[in-house]
Amino acid sequence: MITATPTPAALGWQHHHILSLADFSAEDFQTVLTTAASFEGVLSRRTKKVPTLQGRVVTTMFFEASTRTRSSFELAAKRLSADILNFAPGTSSLSKGETILDTAKTYLAMGTDIMVIRHGQAGVPQAIAAEMDRLGTGVRILNAGDGQHEHPSQGLLDLYALCTTFSAEAPNLADLKGKKIAIVGDILHSRVARSNLWALTAAGASVHLAGPPTLVPTEFLDYFGDDRPITLHWQLEPALERADFVMTLRLQHERMAQHLLPSIREYHQQFGITRDRLAGCNPGVRVLHPGPTNRGVELSSDVMDDPALSLVSRQVTSGIAVRMALLYLIGGNLP
Ligand code: NCD
Repeated sequence: MITATPTPAALGWQHHHILSLADFSAEDFQTVLTTAASFEGVLSRRTKKVPTLQGRVVTTMFFEASTRTRSSFELAAKRLSADILNFAPGTSSLSKGETILDTAKTYLAMGTDIMVIRHGQAGVPQAIAAEMDRLGTGVRILNAGDGQHEHPSQGLLDLYALCTTFSAEAPNLADLKGKKIAIVGDILHSRVARSNLWALTAAGASVHLAGPPTLVPTEFLDYFGDDRPITLHWQLEPALERADFVMTLRLQHERMAQHLLPSIREYHQQFGITRDRLAGCNPGVRVLHPGPTNRGVELSSDVMDDPALSLVSRQVTSGIAVRMALLYLIGGNLP
């Protein structure tokens, strides 16, 4: 029962905002897993709501397209009994010249406690968090994807989906130690890959990246430093060999400034995940994709729709409990 969940402070939770997973310790990751599992218990009850954030205001501010992340945060906030405001840039005063910071201050003036922010430019959630701190507002900021930088809640729900394959009730970070995880595709443009890399290397997994050199450049590794062992491949087979999990990423056409690929067809031939290609993986291999998927490009429909292979639906479902956990951990001890 969630009523028995300790307060965030008692769990040792220190993060005021969630902007990046680079500064998460192994204990932080485990706290998210354990808290999400307790909320999963709530979601399996007939009454799927707890009063945890009653009277609190959560505002989602998505300056970039989203299907699952925004809806999942909204449902998570509702399950915690918060009031929720959804800002839609297309119909807002942004079109009248208002700045993003002034938009954030408008929602602050309405009593927002937590802002969930997505923006196409890296650093926007951080800038709003800095301003909220400077003003001494106490408002918490959750980064829901900033440019190519990070997408922490996706990294955490992927971690949860992985760990719950070993134990649904008590997901444990240590279960990923030594497991081989291949991340395939457009790594360069992927905020999901960056957040996942912080999480998976903290868990001690053996992480292998695969993609064409234009999308998996050697310099990419400099960002993570030598203490985060990551192996890079420009061919798919060595990355998949004896892999326990295969994470595929969307080809991000909207973020490709120049032509980095010969053709989509050729990309699929070289890096698309099909049933045949998975033959070299460990028995029981599972495939993930954060969505949205270009079916038949990153992943064949046959693999994506096979419940014995694909964790794609589980990722979406996990997103709700994980985002409840995140809202609780940063919002549960608001003044
Ligand atoms: C991702 C995103 O927006 O960063 N999607 C998501 O949140 N599930 C990945 C993508 O757009 O490819």
